[in-house]
Amino acid sequence: MTEPLRLTMNGIHKRFGSTQALAGVELALRPGEVHALVGENGAGKSTLMKILSGAEQPDAGTMSLDQHPYQPSGPLDARRRGVAMIYQELTLAPHLSVEANILLGQEPSRWGFLRRREGHQEVQRALAMLEHPELQVARSVAELSPGAQQLVEIARALLMEVRVLVLDEPTSSLTQEDARRLFGLIRRLRKRGVAIVYISHYLEEIKEIADRFTVLRDGQSVGSGPVAETPVERIIEWMVGRSLQDLFPRVPHTPGEVVLEVRDLVLTGHGMAREGMHLQLRRGEILGIAGMVGAGRTELLRAIFGLDRVVQGEVRVQAFVGGDGWPRQRIEQGLGLVSENRKEEGLALLQTIADNLTYSRLRPYSWFGWLHLGRRQQAVREWLQRLQVRCSGPQQRVGELSGGNQQKVALGRLLHQEAEVLLLDEPTRGVDIGSKAEIYRLMGELAAQGKAILFVSSYLPELLGVCDRLAVMARGRLTAPRATEDWTPEQIIAAATR
Ligand SMILES: Nc1ncnc2c1ncn2[C@@H]1O[C@H](COP(=O)(O)OP(=O)(O)OP(=O)(O)O)[C@@H](O)[C@H]1O
Ligand SMILES: [Mg+2]
Repeated sequence: MTEPLRLTMNGIHKRFGSTQALAGVELALRPGEVHALVGENGAGKSTLMKILSGAEQPDAGTMSLDQHPYQPSGPLDARRRGVAMIYQELTLAPHLSVEANILLGQEPSRWGFLRRREGHQEVQRALAMLEHPELQVARSVAELSPGAQQLVEIARALLMEVRVLVLDEPTSSLTQEDARRLFGLIRRLRKRGVAIVYISHYLEEIKEIADRFTVLRDGQSVGSGPVAETPVERIIEWMVGRSLQDLFPRVPHTPGEVVLEVRDLVLTGHGMAREGMHLQLRRGEILGIAGMVGAGRTELLRAIFGLDRVVQGEVRVQAFVGGDGWPRQRIEQGLGLVSENRKEEGLALLQTIADNLTYSRLRPYSWFGWLHLGRRQQAVREWLQRLQVRCSGPQQRVGELSGGNQQKVALGRLLHQEAEVLLLDEPTRGVDIGSKAEIYRLMGELAAQGKAILFVSSYLPELLGVCDRLAVMARGRLTAPRATEDWTPEQIIAAATR
């Protein structure tokens, strides 16, 4: 290749306290390529990209952008030079309009003279590039779907001429339709010569959209190459440092008696069908609920767990009946929930891993008494190891962990609670491929111990890979569950989009 590189990173190092996040990373981006950045949770992907986009400063290493030394002093400086990053968690102001959000945080001198019309025109131009007619400037961002919100973030990046665009796990909360559209936009930007860095834990996506890839492991770049000529197994091997035989390990288990029953439950949310839903979950069973983002699956789990009021219908847990349980009661009845949104209702980011893992409303930590501190530490260490959480130790704050490792702590807390019925809402979101396999194995083991698992996921391969039965939800309607082998992927997609 004689074409000059768009961007290079050489020998990048970054340490946070005792954690060596990056230890000499090399990355080269060509203009007009989609470059996948892959690696296990905590490998350093987000940190590397924060350095690229000026949000973090490296301890050592050099960068160049279009053959010029590149050393951004901050995100704004990076943006001015054409490097923009869309974060794992979106940063929009929901109450403001689309236009206000796009202009937010832009260089004040550019808009300071109230050159409103110019600003407005540039926003229109950026939005036109997205080819999404429903993204009107005056709409408030809160009314938009997660996919559309993400596009607003991208429009913000497009306002200045973009040369490098970084997308950190962009599809994890998008519907299939929105993901499709995002891919369309990525392809158009690629044609215009933008270099795009694409971070994802879904290798299917990488096969589809990326031209080349770089693998990070333990803060080092360990492999790189063209996607089309590299077998997926090879990429996985680089990521996890060994070959992964089985992506969906199954532990034999047999369903027993019914522990959870949903009768004629109606969801009252916006756009829901208001049709009664029925469901029976047995001990020793993994029951999957497929569907698209926004189908009402999270609302169903919340209603079962007593977080939302049940207006019509009934949820029975073992012998307990109640249309309106509240979470404390539900926990006492043996229910546990891992919510989809680990930030809003899950983890205490300022607390330590140990506190987060062992905190439970059912068994407050003080009940153990000081005598059991040692036992608690032991339990914490076991979970951290089992779930392969990458951290400096049980006393590290959860907020310092990488996205996927936070997700593992949320799951670990539920497991520590020893619930009889587990409600899992997208438990593997953001989790790397090796840890996903470990989580599936754990689910199988829990089922073998007689626990009942309700598993909500938007990732079809994992539902097909681990569930005994599957039901599909669309707009507040739930199909009758069927044995997993009686579904084809096409049938599931058809039922999810009806
Ligand atoms: N502000 C911080 N303070 C302390 N440690 C940090 C901080 N930010 C990141 N780390 C650590 O640096 C390492 C790399 O984290 P990073 O977020 O880059 O991983 P990642 O590859 O993006 O993982 P994931 O796939 O889970 O998103 C992790 O061990 C993480 O705990
Ligand atoms: Mg990350």
